[in-house]
Amino acid sequence: MNETVGQPLSINDITAMKRKGEKITCLTAYDASFSAVIDKVGIDIMLVGDSLGMVVQGQHTTVPVTIEQMVYHSQCVSRARKRAYLIADLPFMTYSSPADAVKNAARLMQDGGAHMVKLEGAKLDCVRFLVEQGIPVCGHLGLLPQSIHQLGAYRVQGKELHAGQKIRADALQLQEAGASLLVLECIPAALAKQISEELIIPVIGIGAGVDCDGQVLVVYDMLNIGISKLPRFSKNFITDCKGVEEAIKAYYHAVKNAEFPGLEHSF
Ligand code: KIV
Repeated sequence: MNETVGQPLSINDITAMKRKGEKITCLTAYDASFSAVIDKVGIDIMLVGDSLGMVVQGQHTTVPVTIEQMVYHSQCVSRARKRAYLIADLPFMTYSSPADAVKNAARLMQDGGAHMVKLEGAKLDCVRFLVEQGIPVCGHLGLLPQSIHQLGAYRVQGKELHAGQKIRADALQLQEAGASLLVLECIPAALAKQISEELIIPVIGIGAGVDCDGQVLVVYDMLNIGISKLPRFSKNFITDCKGVEEAIKAYYHAVKNAEFPGLEHSF
């Protein structure tokens, strides 16, 4: 556990964790207080997720979240962060062209203090253009919450052979396009294992089984602060703990020791 805050982590440190077989820990953060405690515990990556639309703003989906809101929350998180690598989501409709993607990613980095931006789907042209401009990119495949109105429901993706193979092919193409990280959300554990083994870049799972290179959860879910039911892939870490910091430490250890997620959290 890295409780004595060390050097700020770079993408090279995160990639080296995969090479060494060390699990990567990631949690969402939306404000300075959570950022400070998550960072203090030694979580490797903080994600300013557009899930803030649902857990902070009380929206039904992530679709209404704006770039201004993402910049604001990234600023709050980045002010208190000392060590963790900081990723911010490009929200819905802010990367419908490579030029838009660069303009909005620049805001997240220059105004928001993010080190990397995350975007949903195999938007290869955007990824290539962002990387050409020196902007590190995290891909996101599987369940794509920004496409909820197209999907119709939040459910496991890639269960059928052809759908699984499409996710696998997209993952390889994102890596070739220059993505430095990949989030896999709600896909079968066996598929996520295969993709994690095939890719050189680190793969961070949420509802994607224990064999990903790392794990991410929505911080409010793992602390059981919820306006909606805890998703099956998440776990309430605070029940057996005295407080928030201890619960985040329990999550840290569970991920580093590959004790979370269990089969009951996987598909
Ligand atoms: O917005 C978010 O919090 C995310 C995670 C669920 C990966 O994208």
